Amino acid sequence: ATDLTGRHFLKELDFSPEEFRFLIDLAAELKVAKKAGAEQQRLRGRTIALVFEKTSTRTRCAFEVAAADQGAGTTYLDPAGSQLGHKESARDTARVLGRMYDGMEYRGSSQAVVEELAAYAGVPVYNGLTDDWHPTQMLADVLTMTEHCAKPLSETAYAYLGDARNNMGNSYLVTGALLGMDVRIAAPRQLWPEETVVEQARALAARTGARIALTEAVEEGVRGADFVATDVWVSMGEPKEVWDERIALLRPYAVTMDVLRATGTEDVKFLHCLPAFHDLGTSVGREIHARHGLDSLEVTDEVFESGHSVVFDQAENRMHTIKAVLVATLAAAGG
Ligand code: CP
Ligand code: NVA
Repeated sequence: ATDLTGRHFLKELDFSPEEFRFLIDLAAELKVAKKAGAEQQRLRGRTIALVFEKTSTRTRCAFEVAAADQGAGTTYLDPAGSQLGHKESARDTARVLGRMYDGMEYRGSSQAVVEELAAYAGVPVYNGLTDDWHPTQMLADVLTMTEHCAKPLSETAYAYLGDARNNMGNSYLVTGALLGMDVRIAAPRQLWPEETVVEQARALAARTGARIALTEAVEEGVRGADFVATDVWVSMGEPKEVWDERIALLRPYAVTMDVLRATGTEDVKFLHCLPAFHDLGTSVGREIHARHGLDSLEVTDEVFESGHSVVFDQAENRMHTIKAVLVATLAAAGG
């Protein structure tokens, strides 16, 4: 039987394909149980620290609700609310929180920081997003794919368009490789994942039978895909100045109805980890609209609001999948 007690989740490759699929299956079970009002609490009396050096809606709420459903307590430390990064090192923070909490989530820029926390905490540490990886998002995305595509993962194809030199680009590439899927990245070459990530993915694919393609051609990239995914063109922590350059580079990679049609897949689904710039109705969006005269960025409002879009299933699944991680790593074995 798969036992993940005490394990960290710092990047997708911390888990074997079997372990990753075990978490997806556990999340699906927990989702059914919650909806049936039959959830068993397996984390009563546990406590989890949620450390955020970057802002969040979904990830924070997913951890808090998942923990509450399972009977565990949480403490949220906001981007300005702890000593970490200003007055105290990751090493010391980890040793303090590890004495009080049973587990710890961290969101911030640096993968090195979350790895340092894991090295010193003595309790499981979960990566709630760094500049390099967004592993808990991948569990939600794969669960969502299994819910919306009847084919086995080994026959499921997804195409990721846009900024692929970021956490989501990296995570999509290695996750599909890990699970033996058909993964396409369609982006301008300078926004493909770093060569080391591509090499990692190719090495994995050779073992798992995954098919990996990186292309600058949108039509070629999306042909036959069951899912089309994208992400914001400028990520948290990047300076505002990069918007102009990214817009110029990425406009051809916006997900439009034409892009969905180019898949040739009748019931193709659209994925986005959110937040999304689809109607530019936010304060940042309005600024971009004023400057560039665009009505949307990485995805049109038409696609986002269409029946193809499963983005809110994805968002909900953040909670069920994070719950699976907490239960798998923190519940006493057999408990
Ligand atoms: N998708 C995601 O991680 O959303 P938040 O930034 O709101 O947590
Ligand atoms: N690439 C985005 C993902 C947000 C969930 C960012 O890092 O801001």
